[in-house]
Amino acid sequence: MNDLDDLALVERNDPEDYLGRVESFGDQIRDARERAGALDELPSAEGVNSIAVLGMGGSGISGDVARAILGGPSPIFFQTLKGYDLPGWVGENSLIFAMSYSGNTEETLATFEEARRRGARVVIVSTGGQITEWGREFGLPVVEIPSGLQPRAALGYLSVPILIVCSRMGLTPDLGQQIHEAAALLDQRASEWGRGAPSEKNPTKQLATRLFGKLPIVYGTEGLAEVAAYRWKCQFNEVSKVPAWSNSFPELNHNEVVGWKEVAALTREHLGLVVLRHAGEHRRNAKRVAATLPAIQGNLAFAEEIWGEGTSALATLFDLVCFGDYVATYLALGQGVDPSEVEIIGRIKKQLAG
Ligand code: F6R
Repeated sequence: MNDLDDLALVERNDPEDYLGRVESFGDQIRDARERAGALDELPSAEGVNSIAVLGMGGSGISGDVARAILGGPSPIFFQTLKGYDLPGWVGENSLIFAMSYSGNTEETLATFEEARRRGARVVIVSTGGQITEWGREFGLPVVEIPSGLQPRAALGYLSVPILIVCSRMGLTPDLGQQIHEAAALLDQRASEWGRGAPSEKNPTKQLATRLFGKLPIVYGTEGLAEVAAYRWKCQFNEVSKVPAWSNSFPELNHNEVVGWKEVAALTREHLGLVVLRHAGEHRRNAKRVAATLPAIQGNLAFAEEIWGEGTSALATLFDLVCFGDYVATYLALGQGVDPSEVEIIGRIKKQLAG
């Protein structure tokens, strides 16, 4: 594995400076708040009974983040829709966020058109592309975000506008303080976990080193940590280019927990488990983690817990997400792999368009 403290070598493997995007996540959140706050016209909130976020991959996960923050306390039904079809409940009383970093993702364009046809109230978040053109043509609110990033590196730009628009419309309480706290915590993390923090003091470089040559599995407790675990899995796939999977408590106690028996020689050698925790998790899930880990860790190469910090839900969620973003990026760089490259995603998109 490459030496993660050799900064020249790290930079050689990272031509688009993916690591720099992770390190500046705090600034991104602040800029996203400004952009969404500057939006002139918002849809009417009257009668809104459902919120849906349309999007795929790095854009779609913004809906999972927003749902973890807003969906719990709110009486309004909230769902992320990742695919070609809209469920029957989407209609004129639905608030729709159409999320596509490029603005050209075919599944999102298809559900966007259908949502418009049904008279839903649509807000677009994108860098441009077809969806922005349509948005301008139909006079819809468009939050324009900066181009030139990988969509998965733009999670702040994609998720924060959903939170801001919902609170500006009066559908959720004001989240200004949570956004402020999250950005400040991520600034602090850039010095604790960024490239300048040497391996012996940097837990994200240490975990990347432990995962070198292993398949990562990420568990989270339902809610915030479940979303963070899924984000870690996707980042290991796209950033580090390794297979990975995620699951959550309590559901995994009813199925996946049984599966650690029969290929133990293989799992013991090749699989590393990370369990994402936070102080606000359901107390029964805390007991479930305590009961599960001793039962399965003998059949894993290692198992360790990562705790998210932060007093607000948003800061805690972004703290867990950010830990994983650093780990996945260091794992890529340790392997000598470009964290930005996702050639196969573009190739499949082209093949389908042709
Ligand atoms: C993430 C990534 C993909 C895209 C997805 C949808 O970095 O490259 O997961 O986010 O293919 O594309 P967009 O976000 O342009 O709608």
